[in-house]
Amino acid sequence: MRHAPIDPQLFTENRRRLAALLPGNALAVVNANDVPPTNADGSLLLVPNSDLFYLAGIEQEESLLVLAPDAFDPKLREVLFLREPSEHLKIWEGHKHSKEEAQKISGIKTVKWLAEFPLVFRQLMCDAEQVFLNSNEHKRAASEVESREERFVRDCQRKFPLHTYHRLARLLHQLRVVKSAREISLLQQACDITEKGFRRVLKFTKPGVNECEVEAEFVHEFTRRRAKFAYNPIIASGANACVLHYNHNDQPCKKGDLLLLDVGACYANYNADLTRTIPVSGKFTKRQKAVYNAVLRVMRASIAGATVGKLSRDWLKESQMMMNDELLALGLLTKADIRKQTDDTPACRKYFMHGLGHPLGLDVHDVGFTTQPFAPGWVLTVEPGIYIPKESFGVRLENDILVTENGPVDLMAKIPVEVEEIEELMGR
Ligand code: GLY
Ligand code: MN
Ligand code: MN
Repeated sequence: MRHAPIDPQLFTENRRRLAALLPGNALAVVNANDVPPTNADGSLLLVPNSDLFYLAGIEQEESLLVLAPDAFDPKLREVLFLREPSEHLKIWEGHKHSKEEAQKISGIKTVKWLAEFPLVFRQLMCDAEQVFLNSNEHKRAASEVESREERFVRDCQRKFPLHTYHRLARLLHQLRVVKSAREISLLQQACDITEKGFRRVLKFTKPGVNECEVEAEFVHEFTRRRAKFAYNPIIASGANACVLHYNHNDQPCKKGDLLLLDVGACYANYNADLTRTIPVSGKFTKRQKAVYNAVLRVMRASIAGATVGKLSRDWLKESQMMMNDELLALGLLTKADIRKQTDDTPACRKYFMHGLGHPLGLDVHDVGFTTQPFAPGWVLTVEPGIYIPKESFGVRLENDILVTENGPVDLMAKIPVEVEEIEELMGR
């Protein structure tokens, strides 16, 4: 782990919050993610399991957390199982956590090697009444690959078929959507590192550079600050910006084009998600500026509109109504287009075809119940856009905000966004 040590109170407090949601005599299990295989004997780097990190701060492969808050033996109320370090592992993979280290990271007193898991687990299962197992529940998740967690669930239900099983994800989502002060501070660090990358790119971008060279500037800034990409960056010049999930990032940036940058840093597993759109030559044309400022007005108004109690659905609708007016003023929609719209197909969808934002945290499209009203502690992205393939450009702007009782707090307030500021910084 590259990041600075995190106060284990963060994880201890998260376990306490989960224990408070569990019924009596319950047991919960969370597994690490698999190391993703590639071809031949290759593999990708492990992506730490967000729930395991949330509850224990552990990023090491094969780890397993068992929580049984009412266990008869107090030492077994929180147990972390880890790979046992060995000379072989030391030579081939390097350092693995010692028990003491894992205790220090997680705040969990009982750390055992994986070999002990079957016996301890059987003991706990015999006393448990309700079993909460984990699953990756996201409305757009579409993986065909069975995860380590799913294999565990299958195994566990086969070995203990008469237990009553529940979805741990329901409880974890309820908790994770509300960020604690410690989490907000880590998210702010991710945003601040993203800002450094963006400022570097403002200085670097000029006609003739390739999109991949711009990507490399972000890599440099993020890596030296102990961060990585939160997601595959979108570095899209000209008409490429109209491809919403563009990530070829291999085209030359041409004079007169706009360059859309959807890039975020991930620091200590907390993600930032920024979008800025800048002129390759350092100066917006009149038309580009008009479209840009339309998107900026919608972003600003939508940030202000992210208030406690609002439903995501209504928030989106408000932004779509604003966008209709902006598109009318830009000559992209007519009054007749707007008269023809229905509830399900707002007129602006032709140019603004995606959502307005999503929860952000340990996952970029973070977990949380988006059918529930915004509550204090939610962190959201706000990302309106206008895409005009006919004019070979698209503009999206995206900031990350915190919902509070006193109104939204913009975690990206310091990241340049005004036309004049961007032109000034690019012109230096
Ligand atoms: N970068 C992913 C998103 O904006 O949702
Ligand atoms: Mn984004
Ligand atoms: Mn986003």
